[in-house]
Amino acid sequence: MSARAAVVAGLGAYAPERILTNADLEQMLDTSDDWIVSRTGIRERRIAAPGETASSLGAAASRAALADSGVDPTAIDMVICATNTGDTPFPCTAGRVWLRLNGPPRPAFDVQAGCTGWVYALELGRALIVAGAVERVLVVATDVLSSIVDWEDRSTAVLFGDGAGAVVLEASASTRGVLGSSLNCDGAGGPLLMLPAGGSAMPANQETVVRRQHYMKMAGNDVFRFAVKALPESIAGALQAAHLTLEDLDLVVPHQANARIIEAAARRLGVDLSRFVVNIERYGNTSVASIPLALAEARAAGRIGPDTVLAVAAFGAGLTWGATVIRWGR
Ligand code: ACO
Repeated sequence: MSARAAVVAGLGAYAPERILTNADLEQMLDTSDDWIVSRTGIRERRIAAPGETASSLGAAASRAALADSGVDPTAIDMVICATNTGDTPFPCTAGRVWLRLNGPPRPAFDVQAGCTGWVYALELGRALIVAGAVERVLVVATDVLSSIVDWEDRSTAVLFGDGAGAVVLEASASTRGVLGSSLNCDGAGGPLLMLPAGGSAMPANQETVVRRQHYMKMAGNDVFRFAVKALPESIAGALQAAHLTLEDLDLVVPHQANARIIEAAARRLGVDLSRFVVNIERYGNTSVASIPLALAEARAAGRIGPDTVLAVAAFGAGLTWGATVIRWGR
């Protein structure tokens, strides 16, 4: 009897229409296209329109993933949504996404693990399917980082953008699917990347607003150093869990935070950069959405097809890091 696997039955992505270029940022901040491109690889990013929210972006990506899979919403057993910028701190954004899709009552909840959230959600979906608890899970990633970026802080404002992605995971007897994962969190690194106010540690008040503590704060250099180690470590861990080696990998789809982080991780791994998917130039860092957005583009470009073996790997606030190895197709 074949083992029960969780395969990717459908993939979708969505990015808002509005483009914010480096030239636009030059008008807003003391920065330059040259600095941003040379330090990060980013040329432009997408910004949600007024009224667009994490759930509306997530619903657009989910619609595309459902259409791609041919699965009707009534056949979905669970909705997991990775986000750091939910429509509101509660209720969950997964429920809002599902409402927008007119789905029937189902378990729906959010996963918050910084930019690694979608990799966490994917592993959660896989584990529940393999355990036999569910047949199909909609795994959504959506972030509107433009809503928590301090547009007066040039050290962070130039880095981020908005977007969403989703996959339908499905039970199968196939040898394809999510093969193995490695997930980690080191809470001691929490202060390096955080949104200080608005939680129980620092409830919102007039002073927190005046001090701009409702915006993301990041120690960029420390996060950079962490990320360069975290990406290769996660990929090695996921390969081990999948009983595969680097030679088995056709493609690496890393979190798109900084082109230099991706280049450094490729060097450390000893994997040629041509095997990495990089689209940060046009989207910036879209947090949880960056991997499914990159997957969708890579597939559209013909780089991913049935039996492509790929690793997705991310790092982010927490500090969290993690990777998953997937053999593509259902
Ligand atoms: N434009 C112009 N100058 C700038 C800008 C800017 N936008 N931002 C910073 N500078 C200046 C600094 O003030 C500094 O000036 P100084 O030397 O006079 O003090 C100089 O540029 C160099 O600053 P550094 O911070 O040392 O620049 P660095 O090359 O390290 O790049 C960066 C900074 C891009 C933030 C980098 O550290 C980085 O990418 N870190 C990782 C960030 C990351 O990945 N975060 C997300 C992870 S989790 C998630 O995805 C949410």
